[in-house]
Amino acid sequence: MSNWPLSRTASSFKTLIFSELADYKGKKSQEGASLIDLSIGSPDQGPPPFLMETLSKASLDPAQYGYTLSGSQEFNEAVAAYYKKFNVELDPKSEILQVMGSQDGLVHLPMIYAEEGDIILVPDPGYTAYEAGVKLSGADLYPLPLQEQNGFLPDLSTIPEEVAQKAKLMILNFPGNPVPALATKAFFKEAVSFAKNYELIVVHDFAYCELIFDGHKPISFMSVEGAKEVGVEFNSLSKSFNLAGTRIGYAVGNSEIIQELERLKSNLDYGIFSPIQRTAIQALLHGETFTKANRLLYEKRRDVLITGLNEAGWNVTSPPAAMFVWAKLPAGYTSESFTYELIDRTGVVVTPGNAFGKQGEGYVRMALVQPEALLKEAAERIKDMLQS
Ligand SMILES: Cc1ncc(COP(=O)(O)O)c(C=O)c1O
Repeated sequence: MSNWPLSRTASSFKTLIFSELADYKGKKSQEGASLIDLSIGSPDQGPPPFLMETLSKASLDPAQYGYTLSGSQEFNEAVAAYYKKFNVELDPKSEILQVMGSQDGLVHLPMIYAEEGDIILVPDPGYTAYEAGVKLSGADLYPLPLQEQNGFLPDLSTIPEEVAQKAKLMILNFPGNPVPALATKAFFKEAVSFAKNYELIVVHDFAYCELIFDGHKPISFMSVEGAKEVGVEFNSLSKSFNLAGTRIGYAVGNSEIIQELERLKSNLDYGIFSPIQRTAIQALLHGETFTKANRLLYEKRRDVLITGLNEAGWNVTSPPAAMFVWAKLPAGYTSESFTYELIDRTGVVVTPGNAFGKQGEGYVRMALVQPEALLKEAAERIKDMLQS
């Protein structure tokens, strides 16, 4: 027993299944299993060479090593220029804020507007950082089920009146993780009216804005009329430009929210390493050739895995976006029983859907973070297991 009882906030953080899975993978690997790891959503490819050159060159200048305090004006201007492709006009001075990866913003924003007794509406299944942010704020989480029959869009009409009255924020994520669904403009408009009715803030996570397939167009929440009056959108360079390790992202939208997040962050950190900011500027301004190629790479990987799974007799829906396959399990399995049996029998590692919320039970998430040949091999091993 420790002499130091944990605070209520710290005790509310469970050990995530990702850590358990990592231990299990380690054990299997030591036993000599040949693993194909589809469990982690971290890009396996590097950024384009021109970005690595920018980063390495800038890193050799000793003048770049001071505190930056916040994002540079050039960075904000680059974000404003980049957002024109989503038909969104942004004021670089008041409507953009750099963050240390969108995770930084997502976990810290809730505490600015919510506290004990308040409610935050969160997609279920949803990216795990949302729940972390709710816990840090002390508010209660109310899950918004993402169900297949609604195209994986939350049904706002099912939110009870007393919940909506207490809600301070609503978090949305399209294309989503783990559910790679696309939003519609109509849904975003509905979210804007809901937010206006109940005076709550919409936080849209647009981390997968560059990974949208089959000619579908990305829809920024900020492109919808009235969105800037009710919310902000977080975006990231992690998945769009394979810069996950350099930790850089940004928030755009309502200037009052941006200002409050800036005030909080000025108390928490001293800004991002200048060479990383410079690299991000180059990515935003000159990354189009790369993003196009990257999109095709994931689209081809998706096709290989889906074809293989279908050949295994497992009919899995082909995702229109993001870097995941969200697969409904064959009868007789729970998310965890399938995940562990799959590792034991095939070496293929996936993430159990219930790690992302109650509604994720009955699903697993497979990240498209391996080359085509290994995805094909993974599907063949799954076929052997399902057909034996
Ligand atoms: C939906 C979603 N949002 C945000 C993030 C965090 O990204 P960042 O690297 O910008 O913190 C991730 C990372 O996997 C994600 O899947």
